[in-house]
Amino acid sequence: MFSYFKIATLSLVLILVHSTIGQQSQLIQFWNSANCVGNPFASWTASANYTTPPPGLTQPLYYKVNGLWEIIPCLSPTNCTVPWIRSGFPGPCTQLLFPYNLTDLRVRRIGDANQNERKITFFELPNFQGQSISVVPPETNFSSRTAQSYYFTGLNSWVYKSSPDNFISVCYNYSLDVKNAGYGFTYSEATIANIGYVKYGCDVQQSTTTRKPGSSGGGIVGPNNAVYYAFILVFALICLKY
Ligand SMILES: *[C@@H]1O[C@H](CO)[C@@H](O)[C@H](O)[C@H]1NC(C)=O
Ligand SMILES: *[C@@H]1O[C@H](CO)[C@@H](O)[C@H](O)[C@H]1NC(C)=O
Ligand SMILES: *[C@@H]1O[C@H](CO)[C@@H](O)[C@H](O)[C@H]1NC(C)=O
Ligand SMILES: *[C@@H]1O[C@H](CO)[C@@H](O)[C@H](O)[C@H]1NC(C)=O
Ligand SMILES: *[C@@H]1O[C@H](CO)[C@@H](O)[C@H](O)[C@H]1NC(C)=O
Repeated sequence: MFSYFKIATLSLVLILVHSTIGQQSQLIQFWNSANCVGNPFASWTASANYTTPPPGLTQPLYYKVNGLWEIIPCLSPTNCTVPWIRSGFPGPCTQLLFPYNLTDLRVRRIGDANQNERKITFFELPNFQGQSISVVPPETNFSSRTAQSYYFTGLNSWVYKSSPDNFISVCYNYSLDVKNAGYGFTYSEATIANIGYVKYGCDVQQSTTTRKPGSSGGGIVGPNNAVYYAFILVFALICLKY
């Protein structure tokens, strides 16, 4: 009887931990129904191209994003429009405000699936476009270049300088939203950064620049992960004791 109870408790804990981790997986979903009611007609965790004919792509279209995504609507396979960058933690149900029915829908997932990789990526152009360069710990030197957008994930911070010997450095610390969630994106779709040296981790004395996720991102849904894990652990210990 006790062992049944213990097995049930452990299963519950595993399910809870799994669903908590699941929340932080990047996801993008599309619906034809207002308020995203019912099943989405498309649901992706990685970059994808939807080319199957309508009805899926008939306006009005609605979407939800968790993480950082680029949405590219196409009027024909060769007539795609300017991409839109959307972020959420997860974000609310939003209408894709576009006046045409689509033939193709492309999505690009930006960054790692779990939004906590120790890596920073800079792009030569705004909106995470053009050539990119990624840095992992501890540090990288390279010939100086101008970056116009960047992102990194997780509870991480990064320092960059225009050259390894420059004494002026800039710190990118994780955003408050990332702090609260324990994961997520800190980014800028439009910046000017001269980078020739990038190092993992800022010193606390350094000046700090952070960027909150985009306006389409909703608030944090659910409790702080650390609090949640602590709660699950205490609950499990109490259950296993009796
Ligand atoms: C989607 O199609 C575009 C254009 O053909 C291509 O560049 C991209 O790699 C495709 N993405 C996927 C995930 O197939
Ligand atoms: C793309 O489609 C739009 C709307 O039908 C049209 O106005 C535009 O000329 C098209 N562009 C190209 C390059 O075919
Ligand atoms: C989109 O397709 C639907 C169904 O075929 C049609 O009723 C509607 O008028 C179309 N909308 C536009 C903007 O072309
Ligand atoms: C980067 O350059 C600095 C200064 O020249 C040097 O001290 C450091 O070791 C270099 N780091 C790497 C990873 O090459
Ligand atoms: C980054 O943010 C965290 C949480 O707000 C803070 O504790 C830490 O000191 C910050 N680091 C730097 C280098 O500003």
